[in-house]
Amino acid sequence: MDLMIIGNWKMYKTGSEASQFIHALIPLIKDTSARAFLAVPFTALYEAVQAAMGSKIIIGAQNMHDADEGAYTGEVSAPMLKSAGVQFVILGHSERRELFGESDAFINRKVKSALKNGLKPILCIGETSAQRENNQTRTILAEQLKNSLAGLLPEELKEVVIAYEPIWAIGTGKSATPDMAQETHAMIRAHLPKIVPILYGGSVKPENSRALLSQPDIGGALVGGASLNVQSFAKIITGC
Ligand code: PGA
Repeated sequence: MDLMIIGNWKMYKTGSEASQFIHALIPLIKDTSARAFLAVPFTALYEAVQAAMGSKIIIGAQNMHDADEGAYTGEVSAPMLKSAGVQFVILGHSERRELFGESDAFINRKVKSALKNGLKPILCIGETSAQRENNQTRTILAEQLKNSLAGLLPEELKEVVIAYEPIWAIGTGKSATPDMAQETHAMIRAHLPKIVPILYGGSVKPENSRALLSQPDIGGALVGGASLNVQSFAKIITGC
């Protein structure tokens, strides 16, 4: 399957900045087989969807609530995202887990809601540096997978994408080595049907993306910082 490259903009870029970025990106990636995805802030969704229309770029969100509607001040639901033209949603990013206290059970409900509403869930999992040093990586990842994917039917599981992001590698410039990433991806692969892509995330940049993406069990990348600059994001996509 063609590699998936997802840009995660986090809390960066306005609607007009998103629009300019996407118009600049389209010609740069037109000849590549890799699939390009951008997870933009809620407020930039409208302009991003408009700008990406007719191109190969797929627009998504970075979070959502699991209920379809309700008294949840400040939250956004899957049907709302769907009606805004969104096709995928990042769920359980470590920043959501750590800074906003999201549990596996909450993330599990979000995964189910995304699937029910026709959004592709990109489920993030990953260990801290202390967990890795204590040889807990395997157990932590297995537990996150089991809890976050609990109760999914086999045909639903096939729609999920996993993003393995070691927490110590996010935003630190300290990426996992290709061998280390491959070893962990193979570990994750053992829990999932072959069709489920497993993306690597954590300090992916043009300088290291090729080596990471050539590993057999790495199906793409979730890119934070390097997706904010159109040249570096295009280099990662076209370098595949
Ligand atoms: P980074 O972020 O590429 O800036 O390390 C990745 C992510 O948080 O998805």
